[in-house]
Amino acid sequence: MYRIPTHPDVTGLGSAQPPPGLVFLSADKVAVDRLRLLDDALRQDVPGTDGWTWDDDDFRAETFCAAFDPATYVVAADAATGDYVGLARVWKNPHQPRLGLIGVLAPYRRRGLARALLAHVFGVLHERGSLDVTAEVDDANSASSALLRSLGAHRIGGVIEYVRRANRRIGPAGGSLARAGGSLARSSRG
Ligand SMILES: CC(C)(COP(=O)(O)OP(=O)(O)OC[C@H]1O[C@@H](n2cnc3c(N)ncnc32)[C@H](O)[C@@H]1OP(=O)(O)O)[C@@H](O)C(=O)NCCC(=O)NCCS
Repeated sequence: MYRIPTHPDVTGLGSAQPPPGLVFLSADKVAVDRLRLLDDALRQDVPGTDGWTWDDDDFRAETFCAAFDPATYVVAADAATGDYVGLARVWKNPHQPRLGLIGVLAPYRRRGLARALLAHVFGVLHERGSLDVTAEVDDANSASSALLRSLGAHRIGGVIEYVRRANRRIGPAGGSLARAGGSLARSSRG
């Protein structure tokens, strides 16, 4: 679990703009079925959520819940094709905003898109007076950890998950340690 500052001078995000050829759309202005497919695709690269696919009704219910905030749920689209290629979403939780997912499809990575998406949503939070935002990141997710630490994120806690596989022979100690940390999206609402 991380706490990430939102002030642009602290994160160093300033007013980072989308890379050339990409545009940002609010999630209440996009095609929900295509957003669901983007979400499915991004989850394949998040440790702990690979293999996940949404049911259409469940995705709509989870997305447009009480914590949905169109100002902090932003989708990146390729201006040439209209394809959705990345997203950042911050849930409007009662006590503190929570970064549910930052994700960029593989062909669009390392061009500053994630930084630009976070600059956008954190900028909204900063203007509203939210000093920081929480996020959960699996320790195995080195790209995401590096990204968040580069913004000044501090670790504030963690979860160790033990997994006992049903069809595996186990040693005398019982279960096996699967991973330390805690996935951003182990629950459905990532
Ligand atoms: C993490 C992720 C969102 C980064 O997206 P991106 O658009 O490539 O990120 P950016 O280009 O804005 O990179 C910003 C910084 O993040 C760090 N970073 C990004 N990818 C990295 C990688 N593979 N390894 C190490 N550092 C990385 C770097 O510090 C980078 O700055 P630099 O390019 O100047 O070195 C992307 O890899 C992704 O979607 N991963 C799968 C989904 C996921 O795991 N989401 C997070 C769940 S917690």
